[in-house]
Amino acid sequence: METPYQNHINKTDFDHVYEPAEDSFLLIDALEKDLPYLKAKKPTFCLEVGSGSGVVITAFGMAFPNSFCFCTDINFKACEMSLSTALQNKVLLDTINMDLVSCFINNKFDIVIFNPPYVVTEPAECGGCGIEASWAGGEKGREVTDRLLDIIPKILSPDGTFYLLLIKENIPLEVIQIMSKYGFKSETIITRQVRNEQQIVLKFHR
Ligand SMILES: C[S@@+](CC[C@H](N)C(=O)[O-])C[C@H]1O[C@@H](n2cnc3c(N)ncnc32)[C@H](O)[C@@H]1O
Repeated sequence: METPYQNHINKTDFDHVYEPAEDSFLLIDALEKDLPYLKAKKPTFCLEVGSGSGVVITAFGMAFPNSFCFCTDINFKACEMSLSTALQNKVLLDTINMDLVSCFINNKFDIVIFNPPYVVTEPAECGGCGIEASWAGGEKGREVTDRLLDIIPKILSPDGTFYLLLIKENIPLEVIQIMSKYGFKSETIITRQVRNEQQIVLKFHR
């Protein structure tokens, strides 16, 4: 998968929007590693939740030009940046400024991707819509992630796949157990040690 062109973004814009980092690129690497599976699926409707700069969904859209790509972010400036990243890379993307997937509750997606705010913080730090929403994950770093887990069964098509980035402190095994209760199998696609962070990308499907 190609890394999208991002030179159109001013460095100062990253004061307000999550700057792509090792976690963003690990997610792209995970999707690349899973390309044979994804190509066989021929996904039509694809969604990234919390798209930030838009680098992940744009990379996905470049690899799957026949799919319809959507993304959401609670941070309005992130939505603007995602749209400009997609445009610069000639990817058609619909961007919606919202909490998780609240407007999509009656839609079904073939692929859902999420690199959540995963840092363990005080619960009170969660719930913002600025740059702090990029990392503040509250208890276990899972407060935002857990809300999405409960919605995934409703918005994922029967044959759909959900890719989720976590760190060790998020207790991935608990996430696997929650998704298993919803009838999802899980696979670890890729793991990487980044300084003091053990990052992991999980894949869920029925
Ligand atoms: C770790 S950043 C990842 C950004 C981008 N996907 C990447 O990989 O570079 C998490 C993103 O989730 C967004 N976010 C946090 N809480 C959200 C929510 N409740 N609904 C939608 N987006 C949210 C943040 O604004 C931020 O852009």
